[in-house]
Amino acid sequence: MREVKKFYLLLHPRPAYIIGSGKFGERVNLMAASWVVPAAEEPPLVAVSIGVDSLTHELIETFGEFTVNVVPMEMLDQLYYVGRVSGRKEDKTELVKVVKGERVSAPVVEGAVGVLECKVHSKVKAEDVTIFIGEVLTARADERVFNDREGWDFKKINLPLHNWGRGFYGVGAFRMARS
Ligand SMILES: Cc1cc2nc3c(=O)[nH]c(=O)nc-3n(C[C@H](O)[C@H](O)[C@H](O)COP(=O)(O)O)c2cc1C
Repeated sequence: MREVKKFYLLLHPRPAYIIGSGKFGERVNLMAASWVVPAAEEPPLVAVSIGVDSLTHELIETFGEFTVNVVPMEMLDQLYYVGRVSGRKEDKTELVKVVKGERVSAPVVEGAVGVLECKVHSKVKAEDVTIFIGEVLTARADERVFNDREGWDFKKINLPLHNWGRGFYGVGAFRMARS
């Protein structure tokens, strides 16, 4: 084995999600994130690692809320778009449609198959990121592709995994085609 500089590449591929932030009627934004981890079951907590320079960071700090949107492989272009352009330069919600959350004022992505609506529970500053720990106020999924027994039904859905850069893989339906 040889020494690896970017240690995190060893921990990829990881599922990639869209984080919604801001407040409807004021400012809303979306960004891609793959450093997202369930953190506790009771109370339900999720941890997201957000770069301090991002608009998302500023909006989560300001409004104390965010959403985690699980999008299908068909939305890979939108996922990649919100991960390479900053909302400081473009209003990304012109291309990726959003609606207001049910329990938060942060945006939820139209076409997402799952969403966690969160309010900030606590945060840890770690160099160039803040790990925001969100309390999950509500979690919803598209019942056509998700069930409580198994979770995602990968015979019916393909979810994006991010390796690095433009490298995405799918987990799910394509596997069925080969079996
Ligand atoms: C697939 C993918 C995953 C990403 N994961 C993260 C992440 O977990 N944390 C992070 O801070 N940035 C991540 N990024 C980068 C941000 O999405 C990117 O910096 C974005 O432009 C920030 O947008 P904003 O300034 O509008 O908030 C990721 C990008 C991609 C394409």
